[in-house]
Amino acid sequence: MTVETKEQTVMVNLTIDGTPISVPKGTTVYTAAKQLGIEIPIFCYHDRMPPFGACRMCLVEVEKMPKLQASCTLEATEGMNVVTQSNRAVSGRKTILELLLINHPLDCPICDRGGECPLQDQTLKYGPGESRFFEEKRHFKKALALGPVLMLDRERCITCARCTRFGDVIAGDHALEFIERGYKTEVGTPDSGPAESKFIGNTIEICPVGALTSKVYRFRARPWDNDATPSTCTLCPVGCSMYLDSRDGEIVRTRSKENKDVNDVWLCDKGYFGYEFVYHPERLNTPLVRRDGKLEPTTWENALQLVADKMKSFKANGKLAGLGGNPLTTEENFLFQKLMREFAGVNHVDNRVGTPVIAADDEGLAPGMEMSIGETEELSYAILCGIDLTEEFPVIWLRLRQAIHRKAKVVFIGHFAPEIAKHLDNVIVHTPGQEVDILKKHLPELLQANKKGAIFVGSQYLANPQRKAILAELLNAKHKTPGLSLNIMQGKGNSQGSRLAGMRPDIGPLGTSPNQPGFDSIKVFEETARSGWDLLYVAGANPAANFSKEHWQTIRSKLQFLVVQDLFLNETAQTADVVLPALCFIEKRGSFINIEGRIQQIHPGKDIPKDIYSDGEIFSLIAQKIDNTRTLALDSQFAEKLKAERLIIRHKESIEGPFPMDTASSKEGLKATFARVLFDRGVRMKHDPHLIQLAKSPFIRIHPKEALVRSLKDGDKVRLSANEKSITGKVKLDSNVADNTIVLPVGFGDLPVHELANNLLNGLVIELRKEV
Ligand code: SF4
Ligand code: SF4
Ligand code: FES
Repeated sequence: MTVETKEQTVMVNLTIDGTPISVPKGTTVYTAAKQLGIEIPIFCYHDRMPPFGACRMCLVEVEKMPKLQASCTLEATEGMNVVTQSNRAVSGRKTILELLLINHPLDCPICDRGGECPLQDQTLKYGPGESRFFEEKRHFKKALALGPVLMLDRERCITCARCTRFGDVIAGDHALEFIERGYKTEVGTPDSGPAESKFIGNTIEICPVGALTSKVYRFRARPWDNDATPSTCTLCPVGCSMYLDSRDGEIVRTRSKENKDVNDVWLCDKGYFGYEFVYHPERLNTPLVRRDGKLEPTTWENALQLVADKMKSFKANGKLAGLGGNPLTTEENFLFQKLMREFAGVNHVDNRVGTPVIAADDEGLAPGMEMSIGETEELSYAILCGIDLTEEFPVIWLRLRQAIHRKAKVVFIGHFAPEIAKHLDNVIVHTPGQEVDILKKHLPELLQANKKGAIFVGSQYLANPQRKAILAELLNAKHKTPGLSLNIMQGKGNSQGSRLAGMRPDIGPLGTSPNQPGFDSIKVFEETARSGWDLLYVAGANPAANFSKEHWQTIRSKLQFLVVQDLFLNETAQTADVVLPALCFIEKRGSFINIEGRIQQIHPGKDIPKDIYSDGEIFSLIAQKIDNTRTLALDSQFAEKLKAERLIIRHKESIEGPFPMDTASSKEGLKATFARVLFDRGVRMKHDPHLIQLAKSPFIRIHPKEALVRSLKDGDKVRLSANEKSITGKVKLDSNVADNTIVLPVGFGDLPVHELANNLLNGLVIELRKEV
């Protein structure tokens, strides 16, 4: 692949439009001209991909070269004399435009791209005023769906191959390809099914015409109608920079915002299409209170007073807890824990609901990346330990792929081969429980001293009973290997901000030690089921979805008062005493801390719904009603910390044992690994009409060998049992899965894996039986 890299140091001198310039050898004439501020029109060239030379729009005249040259593929050479605006070059480009327009429809007034279309702009700027062709244009049946979110208007396509190359070069998913040949060439998918990609939104953004459009945005607005608000995607811990485009106060689309440190110019499809939930008719718009067993609308005054009164009356008993916080801003998390700690007098706060709970003492190392996300592109090698990058930190894969293009060696070690396996140098799969042995065996041969390297360790290894021993092994490797960074890739939404704010029973704000003991989320529920609990305040979490209906009913029957603050009447809210509607990340401001500790801002990108408060405002209003002599506000020291650009994550030097070993290995059964997927069927996804179509049916994946000994075939119904609980689901045979292993997706109501254990730690022994 010919990419322009920084390493080239030999310089060449040339002249463009009379101005001399010196550029590193290998630079194209197009790039050199750009450096001089000379604009050459392009269609197929995109500066994040190697030049392709398909459209010929970038023609220039070069002295001593008889034919016009495509500047995007032409390498600058010593003494070259280039003219971009000569009569020949201008007329050559005019002809190219005229040819492109032979078949391109003149439907700019109804085309989504109208107003921000390079073809439209360049025709106005460089094109002929009229066409010499009067023949009938090419016609296709109108817009073709290439999946639930992508539409193709074939007659608008100028076959520039930006979209197909994006899939091949940037995402590596080959989601789109050209079908047919010659004048019949059109964009399609490899098997004519829906485009299989987590990044297809980017093809819409880079299509230079209106051929690819978003099913969600189509015909919703024209670019000049839109107001763009810069913000941050909070749907995963990558925290991509984005624009929220709104028309008349209504959000109509999101777009990536260039940020070299985080997402470069890309987004994943969750960020690109994941905003429709805000207008879902089931979104809560008024507080609800339970009367005679039914949730009924009430005023904010009533609802807040009731919550405050209950908190006050239960305070002396100390059985109050606050759970949630991952979708909230960092500031809101701070206010939540302060409300519980200082106004309700308890230390039972936890942001880990539905995600594994490991006490700070057993964590070994705190989550977070030592290097920045942008640096991923510069790696010489990377070791992915139990991390499914595209499912959990999607855009980081796009950055790592660039490193692979630059010859970085990338190896995966874990419980099943990820979908990116084909791009990696080696994939080592093993049964859960063998992590430490496998690392001891393979790490030495993978490490490269004095090269820029990284270990990315993910949920397969972190939500693991052997976590501490695993991290000790990795930390040891890091200390022996200069240039190696250790990146602990764990979290959900703003969990880094939650942690910094002290939404943990074992960690106070800014990592302080809380001054009284507290229960984590699992202990709160155990204690509730065992001996009853007074008040539970859940904000931005849905614990009921993590238990079987019966178990939640038991918990609920022993819980006197349940407050739920959320966007939707989720499973937990349905059983609440008070439900408080809250604003989402598109409607409020505050900070969000991503996996590399970068503190980024979110801003409202649409009109704020009337009579709905942000989570932070709700906490403050309740605090005021509990004690009007004090105000619930950020501490100055905490507020000061949030002014930093990035919290630098420094791991401690060593991890002290003891390291608990896998005690379950002697039991019969398969070892579970719980897989988190980008498109699950969680509450927010379910209320996103297009995004939910990207969620696949959940399957229980096992290796064909394991299936053979159990006489199982694809689609067979099986019963899974553990901890005296059982669920049923369908199996899928998958040779990517390690022996003696069972892969269970998390976040699907029709495969409620949470019923099998209170804490989903990998390695759980599961008995699998065919249902007859
Ligand atoms: Fe180019 Fe757009 Fe056609 Fe893809 S659909 S080849 S990006 S014009
Ligand atoms: Fe949003 Fe994460 Fe996707 Fe970026 S990678 S767009 S932060 S969901
Ligand atoms: Fe140069 Fe297309 S932009 S050939």
